[in-house]
Amino acid sequence: MSSDKLPHCDLLIRGGTVIDGTKAPRFQADVGIARGHIVAIGDLAGHSADEVVDAAGRIVAPGFIDSHTHDDQAVLSQPAMPFKVSQGVTTVVTGNCGISAAPLRDGMDLPMPLNLIDAPAQGRFTTFAAYLDALRATPSSVNVAAMVGHSTLRGVTMSELDRQASQAEISEMRAHVEEAMSAGAIGMSTGTFYATATQATTEEIIEVGRPLSARGALYVTHMRDESDRIMEAMEESFAIGRALGVPVVLSHHKAMHTPNFGKTRVTLPFIEETMKHQCVSLDCYPYTAGSTMIRTDRGMLDNRVLIASSEPHPECAGRDLADIAREWGLSKEEAARRLQPGSAIYFMMDEDDVQRVLAFDETMIGSDGIPLGDKPHPRLWGTFPRVLGHYSRDVGLFPLETAVWKMTGLTARNFGLHGRGTLKVGQHADIVVFDAATVRDAASYETPTRVAEGIDAVIVNGTITWQHGVHSGARSGQVITRRDKVAA
Ligand code: ZN
Ligand code: CU
Repeated sequence: MSSDKLPHCDLLIRGGTVIDGTKAPRFQADVGIARGHIVAIGDLAGHSADEVVDAAGRIVAPGFIDSHTHDDQAVLSQPAMPFKVSQGVTTVVTGNCGISAAPLRDGMDLPMPLNLIDAPAQGRFTTFAAYLDALRATPSSVNVAAMVGHSTLRGVTMSELDRQASQAEISEMRAHVEEAMSAGAIGMSTGTFYATATQATTEEIIEVGRPLSARGALYVTHMRDESDRIMEAMEESFAIGRALGVPVVLSHHKAMHTPNFGKTRVTLPFIEETMKHQCVSLDCYPYTAGSTMIRTDRGMLDNRVLIASSEPHPECAGRDLADIAREWGLSKEEAARRLQPGSAIYFMMDEDDVQRVLAFDETMIGSDGIPLGDKPHPRLWGTFPRVLGHYSRDVGLFPLETAVWKMTGLTARNFGLHGRGTLKVGQHADIVVFDAATVRDAASYETPTRVAEGIDAVIVNGTITWQHGVHSGARSGQVITRRDKVAA
């Protein structure tokens, strides 16, 4: 706290109220930044800096970490990342739901949902190292911590995906995981919910994931089932974590479809109990609708469906599937098939479940945003301000300190992102300055790309990246790799 020997600051955030990302109560302090790091927190009156951000009446918090993204290609093809930076996000975790940008082969066909991450800007990456090198050579505006996706590995290894992998294919996939780990991937994800991996057995996932063990890297999963058989799916996820001896992250935890509404009353205690014996965490987005590719199976079309994007019918983006079907004189199933390939928004959760999962102490905030098309799910632009404004301030689900922790300190701890997620001297200077009274998501299902309100300034590795609603053009994001247990 002492400011006596304060080195020269590049940037000074003056007069704000610090919420430090640990859940500790807020306090008044200035924050001094030099060479991309926080060098002082306290009363820095009398000290000067090259640049000053006036934070009077504002909250100064660690930059938000989006624990669940599909930004793998967006960080290269849309490197300014306005949909994340404008929310206060300074770090994204990529490679979720079994899908990653590497390793791929040139010319290979990407079946759904491997094609959900947008078209490659720089050609395909045949190794994970090549992907991370490209990110280092052309940084984006946010930091990236990347995982390798098991469905992508199946796609690059197997000739057809509607079957179990052979021993030879498992070895090949395992070699890819090994390569990704040594390149710096922080974990491996699966998406056994999707046709590209439904045939993968528990054993296949464990054997492919072997290289995670030595490094304590994460196993992150979009589970086989988030509806009728969600308990069995959780058992499988925990069993994989135990077999590999690694932390498990349950992605976008939810109970899908009307008959399962209320099930989080059972799933959350099960998670809590399991946490006593093994390392488990979970994330969630603050909406009752999900979004993924257009699919017609497993009751996906039972409730309201909004088309987010459609390759054959781009004009249908933003419209209700029921209206399109009526206009075309088709059933919803037939209309959906004609709109494929594309993505859609499915209203399939209960508000009480969403609030219960959000309020669960250990739940991290992750957007699961899909950076595609003009009519994406509003979570892409609104997740973090929605938790701060709507759920914390307006609904009163938890104090602002807890809200911030769920998107910073907790996430950094669970994902092993050292030196980030809290405001302390020595940490990387990833910082967001926002107005607790006015922060809110402006993106809705009708206007899904509207910029959030109340986010004053966003600083990434010490560089102002967003201020007063304008992107500075800075691209100071870094690649965050898994820190070896032995080496530093
Ligand atoms: Zn998913
Ligand atoms: Cu996802």
